[in-house]
Amino acid sequence: MAVVRLKNLTKVFPGGTTAVDDLSLTIADGEFLVLVGPSGCGKSTVLRMIAGLEDVSGGNVLIDGDTVTDWPPKMRDIAMVFQNYALYPHMTVQQNMGFALKLRHVDKAEAQQKVNDTAALLGLSALLERKPVALSGGQRQRVAMGRAMVRQPRVFLLDEPLSNLDAKLRVSMRAELARLHQRYRITTVYVTHDQVEAMTLGDRIAVLDRGKLQQIGTPDELYRAPANRFVAGFMGSPSMNFATVGVGGEDDRLTVTLAGRELTVPGALRRRPGLARYRGSTVVMGLRPAAFAASGTTGAAEFEVVPLGVESLGDEKHVLFEAPAAGSSARTAGAEDVPLTVDDTAATPLWTAKVTQHVDLAIGHPVTLAADLREAYFFDPASGLAVPEEEAVASPEPAGAAAG
Ligand SMILES: Nc1ncnc2c1ncn2[C@@H]1O[C@H](COP(=O)(O)OP(=O)(O)OP(=O)(O)O)[C@@H](O)[C@H]1O
Ligand SMILES: [Mg+2]
Repeated sequence: MAVVRLKNLTKVFPGGTTAVDDLSLTIADGEFLVLVGPSGCGKSTVLRMIAGLEDVSGGNVLIDGDTVTDWPPKMRDIAMVFQNYALYPHMTVQQNMGFALKLRHVDKAEAQQKVNDTAALLGLSALLERKPVALSGGQRQRVAMGRAMVRQPRVFLLDEPLSNLDAKLRVSMRAELARLHQRYRITTVYVTHDQVEAMTLGDRIAVLDRGKLQQIGTPDELYRAPANRFVAGFMGSPSMNFATVGVGGEDDRLTVTLAGRELTVPGALRRRPGLARYRGSTVVMGLRPAAFAASGTTGAAEFEVVPLGVESLGDEKHVLFEAPAAGSSARTAGAEDVPLTVDDTAATPLWTAKVTQHVDLAIGHPVTLAADLREAYFFDPASGLAVPEEEAVASPEPAGAAAG
């Protein structure tokens, strides 16, 4: 068990790429922290610096209060499952999994027991005598996990450990991982691209963009109160829809102008007093696909949209349509101006709405959707920071410094 603390951790590669930029965060003892962010944002580099496989350019790594920045990897008692895990090709599954125990001179019978237990857990019992060449990609990935798991390290670092598994196996391995973590409570940092994995496994999630920490919090905090537009767009699938809208209204009534119409946003100022400052100017409004429904919802703003794509997912449908423009008048839906393919409109951002399977939808046929503006998010157009829920201090400048 261990507390891992990163203090102003920075990595600049010889070519000049700043892969990790002044990252500070603390992973609590027994915590499961998920690290997410777009490809190339520095996730693997962070793990490699914690493990000691990559020199740091600045800052420190602390484990249980000890500054381990200059410690060799084997002194740190960390197990890592790599993104491109490599097994020893000349060893069997059993030998691969038991290798770390052998290095540590663990008693043979005890080691055998640990390997057997872990193999059973991972569904590898029948494959113990095979060599990696005779395994599928998913099986190899599970052996790599098993190899890290047998020795119960102080810290687990997992870099997309489930990425090579098929959908069904992924779900069962995810549940297994959660159960294992409940049982052993080993401090874990887990990198994934998968939204569901991040939301379901993480005690907390840290979002990175271009090496910088954007926000860290519980899955709910990140979903409900994203600190900035980047986090808002990153968490949730399909992504949040954004539009720059004009802001108006008097007293406690706030309006936004979208697709040429002035719409009241119910209760907006009560929830976000800071929005008053944007009157007469613009703000970036975000609406999650789930904020939409078929028309007829009371109190919701209705829009006629022309579906450019319809994705049926069984119990729900996703409708893709052209983002409503801020100032322009509502798009009239004539059959002749319906683009034939989505590619024609690649330059125009598309919005996605989630509706129930019962809504009849066809590409090119206008449909009325209702957007519940009470669910809207608001961001400063210049900084991208969320308009705060509560006005911290009544200051004339946009509130808040950069997240992190
Ligand atoms: N050895 C290296 N030399 C130079 N640049 C590197 C090196 N390793 C990584 N980088 C660069 O550092 C940045 C971060 O890389 P990293 O592998 O940490 O990203 P990542 O978030 O893990 O991405 P992915 O999700 O694709 O695995 C990238 O721009 C990458 O090109
Ligand atoms: Mg990576």
